[in-house]
Amino acid sequence: MNATELKTELTDKIEAANDLGALDNIRVEALGKKGRVTELMKSLGKMSPEERKTEGVALNKMKDEVAAKIEARQKILKKSVMDARLKTEKMDMTLDIRPERKGSIHPITQTMDEMIAIFADMGFSIHDGPDIEDDFHNFTALNFPPNHPAREMHDTFYLPDVVGKEGDEAKRLLRTHTSTCQIRAMLEHGAPLRKIVMGRTYRSDYDITHTPMFHQLEGMVIDTQTNMGHLKGCLKTFCEKFFGVEDLPVRFRPSFFPFTEPSAEMDIGCSRSKGALKIGAGDDWLEILGCGMVHPNVLKAVGIDPDVYQGFAFGMGIERVAMLKYGIPDLRTFFEGDTRWNAHYGHDPLNKPNLATGS
Ligand code: DAH
Repeated sequence: MNATELKTELTDKIEAANDLGALDNIRVEALGKKGRVTELMKSLGKMSPEERKTEGVALNKMKDEVAAKIEARQKILKKSVMDARLKTEKMDMTLDIRPERKGSIHPITQTMDEMIAIFADMGFSIHDGPDIEDDFHNFTALNFPPNHPAREMHDTFYLPDVVGKEGDEAKRLLRTHTSTCQIRAMLEHGAPLRKIVMGRTYRSDYDITHTPMFHQLEGMVIDTQTNMGHLKGCLKTFCEKFFGVEDLPVRFRPSFFPFTEPSAEMDIGCSRSKGALKIGAGDDWLEILGCGMVHPNVLKAVGIDPDVYQGFAFGMGIERVAMLKYGIPDLRTFFEGDTRWNAHYGHDPLNKPNLATGS
């Protein structure tokens, strides 16, 4: 067999080798100490010097070509081995965390996220304020006259007076409602305005429906044409989206808050059968929030002209609506930090509320 024939035969074999072991056998068969190319090289010794010259060059070239072919084939086979390994050892980065290690979103956080999704869709942005407040923001600017009994209704936690200050300015307290942020938002942004506030509030009270710390949602809209029709439309829409009920009946009962005139409490329709509460058109009503048209004195207190601007405001307990929506019977359990409670009532951290999912 001459060099050309041997090269053709070996090339065919190299191309046909489909694993690294088979390829190595071919390498030994061709280029090993007793390999066929090696044997052919040995035959050079028997040739005449002229023959050896031409044949030697051709043989060496052939040997290099075969070696290069083996190397090229080796690269291809190594890559396919690696590809197969990568396929089987692929890590799925979208895998969920291990269920037993997964935390859960507290119902208060979940409820706040849901509220944000709904009000943001109606053009509200978020305002914030401190838990430790002063008398001005919590009462005076909200039209609570000095020594008015409404101040007592709030069971306020007072802090020691600020040293070096006097009167209202010295009085610090834990805010009893998020209405403080109506004042803060209006002082910061003026009118027109469309804001919600969510946060902790504090009152000295403790039973099945009261805890010393609880959360409120506050909302306010200030503009030149705002009326109670807007208030009703806004709150009805919110409740329908939040509770996932279409055509939810709402009714307004006259009430009193120093910072609104007129003031109202809003109820939503519900029915109760065999102890189970169902929100939606029914034969009963459920009180859900306080609201009203912003009192002119409040606008004046922050330098907004009540002859040009009017607005509405509302406030609701976040625990209360979370209890109604998620069937949580006892308010106090929200803050006990019992991990079994959290596991039961908590929400999937990867399932963020948005309007598209309706949750
Ligand atoms: N701040 C009131 C409370 O804590 C709730 C409230 C009522 C807020 C009427 C409002 C409102 O903005 O207009 O009881």
